[in-house]
Order: sequence, then structure tokens, then C-alpha cells
Amino acid sequence: MAAANRLIVLTGLVALVAAAALPPAVAAGPGGGDLPAADWAAAAVHYRLLLEEALLPLKRALLQSVQGPLVLEPLPYSDDALQPVISAKVGRGTLPSDKEESIRNNGGGHWNHQLFWRVMSPPGSANTSRDNISPQLEAAIVGAFGSVDQMLSSLKAAGDSRFGSGWSWVCAAGDGGLRVLSTPNQDNPLMAVVRPQPCVPIVGLDVWEHAYYLQYGPKRGDYTSAWLELVNWKQVSANYDAARRGDLAAIAGAV
Ligand SMILES: *[C@@H]1O[C@H](CO)[C@@H](O)[C@H](O)[C@H]1NC(C)=O
Repeated sequence: MAAANRLIVLTGLVALVAAAALPPAVAAGPGGGDLPAADWAAAAVHYRLLLEEALLPLKRALLQSVQGPLVLEPLPYSDDALQPVISAKVGRGTLPSDKEESIRNNGGGHWNHQLFWRVMSPPGSANTSRDNISPQLEAAIVGAFGSVDQMLSSLKAAGDSRFGSGWSWVCAAGDGGLRVLSTPNQDNPLMAVVRPQPCVPIVGLDVWEHAYYLQYGPKRGDYTSAWLELVNWKQVSANYDAARRGDLAAIAGAV
């Protein structure tokens, strides 16, 4: 079966399962359905795929990896100094190399989606007003791109041209300068494999098929254009502040 067909079958099956499993209030949408039920079902499918495809394998990978040793920051005492209360095994070792990819894919998937849900708000709601763009963020946007519209066009173009599944990002470098880039799969610009230098995501646009295929079919560009209306500028401004402070938990929650 062609990959696209498999995707349709898979998302169709998951849609049925997810719709059946949802409590009626959620299926109708909060507050009695601002959006067509199909949109809420698509959102629910996205959650369900995330849970099944990212969080559960992440949990498995983490559980398996602790059977081998983990890398931790150096301790101010010897590894066995806390015995017998805490075993020396807890403080030693390396991440098994056969688990790195699984943790990168599934941990990345979780972190990226934490950011994704937060940087969106209902279309037309107060958070989507550009009045929420802080003076600091505005200055950084103008410095890097010339205008908010130009930044958004770059974000869209990076997402539209991503081959296969991945993400498009606006990220803040160490000097506060902004850039747009795209990553494959669940990679993000914080990962050493991606970054030329550390760059903290403040906007993340999911261009995996699971994010749009049910609603937009193969028209990824229609989805990315529409998505730009959902940007929660209040959160993105807060993310920029957090990036400047190095506070990653404020951007995507504790991992
Ligand atoms: C508006 O944005 C703030 C900051 O991200 C968030 O706490 C709040 O839930 C958002 N409201 C809506 C309706 O999205």
C-alpha cells in the first residue's frame, strides 16, 4: 500500500477509535461547539496519535534505558555516598546508544507538542491580536525579518517546503536574534543534531500529516496559511522573554 494510503487508513481508524472514546462534552467542543465537530475530532486524533506514538514509546524507552545506566550531572559527593538510602547505581553511567533515537523522537514529540498547543488560541480571540506582541519581541522581529508579516511568511515557507514530516520554527539565539528554520521528524532547534548554535523555539508549527491531513488533505499550504491566524501572541511574547532568561520550562512545561 502506498504510504499516503496507509496514512489515510491509519488516521481513519484512529479517528473512529478516538471519537468513540471521547466523552460527549469534548466531542461537541468546549462551550457547546465553537468549531464543527469534525475539527474537534481531528484535534482529538492529534492528541491520541501523540499519546500513542510519542508518550508511550518515550515511557518504554526511558524504562528500558534505566536498566542500563544514565548520564547525570557530576555530584558533589561520590556515587556511593548516599548508600544505603540511595543506591550507587542511580548516579552512574551513560545513555545506551540504542535508546538515543527513541528518546530523541518521542521526547522531541512530546516537547514540541507542548509548545505547539500553547502557541495557539481560538481564531479571532484576544490572544491572537498583534497588540499582544511585546516591544522586545517586536524589536527582535523587525531586526531579523523586517516585519511580523515577513516573519510569518518565512515560517510558512519553511513548513511548506519541509520534505516529509517535521516542523517549522521561530527560535531565539543566545544573543536574542530570531531565525526561522525547519526540522525533520520530531527534531527541534534545541537538539545538538540540529542547531548550528543553541536556538530556543518560541513558535512551533507542526507540519506532520497528522496535524492537517484529515481536514486539508494534501493541501499543506492551506493549513499553514490558516494556522497563522491562530498564533497566540501573548504566549509567543512570553516565550521570547523565557528564551532570553533560559527558562525552557516556561515555554513547554516541565519535561
Ligand atoms: C491566552 O494566552 C494565555 C498565555 O498563553 C493563556 O494562559 C490563555 O489560556 C490564553 N487564552 C486562550 C483563550 O487561549
